[in-house]
Amino acid sequence: MATKITIIGAGSVGATIAYTLSLETLATEILLIDINEKKANGEALDIVQSTAFRDPISVTSGDYADAKGSNIVIITSGMGRKPGMTRLDLAKTNVSIMRDIAGKIAPVCPYAKYIIVSNPVDILTYVFMKESGIPESQIIGSGTQLDSARLRHLIADECGVSSKNVHAYVFGEHGDSSFVPWSVAHVAGVPVAEYYKTYAKNKDAEFDPDRIIDTVRKSGGVIIADKGATFYAIAVSVVKLCRMILSSENSVTTISTMMHGEYGLRDVCVSVSCLVGPNGVEKKIILPLTDEELGKLKASAAVMHQMVEHIYG
Ligand code: 2OP
Repeated sequence: MATKITIIGAGSVGATIAYTLSLETLATEILLIDINEKKANGEALDIVQSTAFRDPISVTSGDYADAKGSNIVIITSGMGRKPGMTRLDLAKTNVSIMRDIAGKIAPVCPYAKYIIVSNPVDILTYVFMKESGIPESQIIGSGTQLDSARLRHLIADECGVSSKNVHAYVFGEHGDSSFVPWSVAHVAGVPVAEYYKTYAKNKDAEFDPDRIIDTVRKSGGVIIADKGATFYAIAVSVVKLCRMILSSENSVTTISTMMHGEYGLRDVCVSVSCLVGPNGVEKKIILPLTDEELGKLKASAAVMHQMVEHIYG
């Protein structure tokens, strides 16, 4: 069966998603769209030629009309975060780009699942929902899926345990107000603090929740400062979302989605844990957060609310 994935934006993130996708057996057709048509064409050609070493798939560049029939549309367009910039600084420019894209892609692909990757992702997921008319459940903001992976990697590395055994999430904004609900985090059934104390391979590793979330929050910024952009981990994270949509694995992950009273939040997109499947966001999994954690989630949502109010007046 043909599976078509369209990627809008052929910059480092979009092109790396296309390349990573081409290494998997998920899509039979990958389409790249970019206002810089030459860049999209060059990336598509470079990737498609690599498929001669594997099962052949189609990788092309084209226009919005060519996206017809896509199962998934991934949006990565927008200005990248420059060193020293917060994700929220980016909002103004990228909101107008997202509005333009929503108007062009939604009529062509009304039934596709959408993955919004452009930053600030929580704001742009909200804007895409409002502007596109696409049902909210079909729209997934990549949100803190990457932050949760960074968190699992850090804990796994410090404790000397597989990241598959680390069950810990980053909630809230994909940005400075994100937080970890530690009350529901564990390593193989053991609370994280206790795992560090009793089982960590590196005996010097100390469980310091503030240090850990700070490191996770700053990861993107450190990579941007060092190499100008982040693209490998986000690409793998988006391809993982594609696999969740195209399979029946029914995985739970943290993604940005519209809140409708869950945790007392409304009319705002932030990341919470959700089951992602063939219908997109299948359901939110409501965790028993402590009052302090609920306060942090509300504070993070308030930051997003203020930004949205600024945009919509
Ligand atoms: C990241 O966190 C910049 O959002 C991008 O890697």
